[in-house]
Amino acid sequence: MTSGTPGTGTTATGNADYRDGGLEFPASFIFGSATASYQIEGAVNEDGRGPSIWDTFSHTPGLVVNGNTGDVADDHYHRLEEDLDLMKSLNLQAYRFSIAWPRIQPTGRGPANPAGLDFYSRLIDGLIARGIRPVATLYHWDLPQALEDEGGWRVRSTAEAFGDYARIVGEAFGDRIHTWTTLNEPWCSAYLGYGSGAHAPGVTDPESALRAVHHLNLAHGLAIMAIREVASNNPQFSVTLNLHVVRPATGSDEDADAVRQIEALGNRAFTGPMLLGAYPADLFEDTKEITDWSFVFSNDLHIINQPLDVLGVNYYSTNLVRVWPGDGPKQNADGHKDVGGSPWPGAGRVEFLAQPGPYTEMGWNIEPSGLEELLVSLHGQFPGQPMMITENGAAFDDVVEDGAIHDVDRIDYLRRHLTAAHRAVQQGVDLRGYFVWSLMDNFEWSYGYSKRFGIVRVDYDTLVRTRKDSALWYAELAASNRLPD
Ligand code: NOJ
Repeated sequence: MTSGTPGTGTTATGNADYRDGGLEFPASFIFGSATASYQIEGAVNEDGRGPSIWDTFSHTPGLVVNGNTGDVADDHYHRLEEDLDLMKSLNLQAYRFSIAWPRIQPTGRGPANPAGLDFYSRLIDGLIARGIRPVATLYHWDLPQALEDEGGWRVRSTAEAFGDYARIVGEAFGDRIHTWTTLNEPWCSAYLGYGSGAHAPGVTDPESALRAVHHLNLAHGLAIMAIREVASNNPQFSVTLNLHVVRPATGSDEDADAVRQIEALGNRAFTGPMLLGAYPADLFEDTKEITDWSFVFSNDLHIINQPLDVLGVNYYSTNLVRVWPGDGPKQNADGHKDVGGSPWPGAGRVEFLAQPGPYTEMGWNIEPSGLEELLVSLHGQFPGQPMMITENGAAFDDVVEDGAIHDVDRIDYLRRHLTAAHRAVQQGVDLRGYFVWSLMDNFEWSYGYSKRFGIVRVDYDTLVRTRKDSALWYAELAASNRLPD
């Protein structure tokens, strides 16, 4: 694999290929792995679980590659003990999982389903028994279908229902969860779910996408308020954002403005209300022909602006943009060109350009400098804000040779991104941990099972788990807090 992407050059802190050897992380630094309920659990009709928008979406012909669904996934629901032992064998210090709202409240409202609570209770106890910190995400995209039928994230009542759900799980697990993460990548829920339609519920309407942004933000605030009231173990509160590293194609003012627009919609629409207590004025200006934002009520920003113990950052790749030089508005202004709408409401004249490789199997360019840049930039914008990398990882076409998976490309990806994270720490970023995506191969949303992100391989015929070389490499790192040579 070749190093770096043209245009980024050598950084002030070292060589450009991010392969520094033998780096040590602080003893307190947490190495973990991450998954999400719909991507691994299966058992979608068991023990009272209600349908989610992803059940509906994946069962709609033509929306997911190969017609794959999460019906069985990794069958984690039935293999809990085995998977807990697997995590222990990898020396994980923390495990980031998500709670499926439709297991807890099958229709998104009403009393808790005891069997749903029991499953997560066993998971949490199993982690603690093995010395692994539980990091729970409340929402990783599996909205109860019944709530979508009432308007989903387009309506305020979904945010209010989310607050009630958070209180239920807070009461049940608020003595044992180390870190609560409210939402996973609300950008995807809003813009892919209601803008481009590439994700469930598959809506393509710009105003719906912006309404979803706000109601997700509100849900975040309401959930933290609810759990804060009932948790007994003084937990940490967090949210996981996929903040975009956006670079301009040229030094022109027009391209600088393209960057600004994408940063407003993609980053500041979330960090503004959550961390600063205000939406950015330019976001309102850019989208004024789509909505007047009258769904933002006067007290909402106060609710959303909850202190965060740690900001969760997901990072995979960078973006290169310019102003569309053609005539007329350009639709679908990013890599999701194969689907109905644009995931960027109001930014119809911004064009996302292909970037030089190398690429992962997702077609995403590999650019570790983007992670360093993002962390350092966030540190500058929000001084003193602790952060953790809640996802980073890569899909590659793994080959099984005599029962082993020598996934050198994935190890190289992880090593270089961890080097980037280390460089950010050296520049003063208060980075508390790193979670590799993912513990095991799983349902990669609209790509189905065609993309493998795991450090553990899952054979989808037998459901047998096999640790890839990257898992063994990561286990060594997690045991020593030192990047293996
Ligand atoms: C982000 C999402 O949180 C996760 O569900 C997904 O599988 C990975 N990125 C890879 O696309």
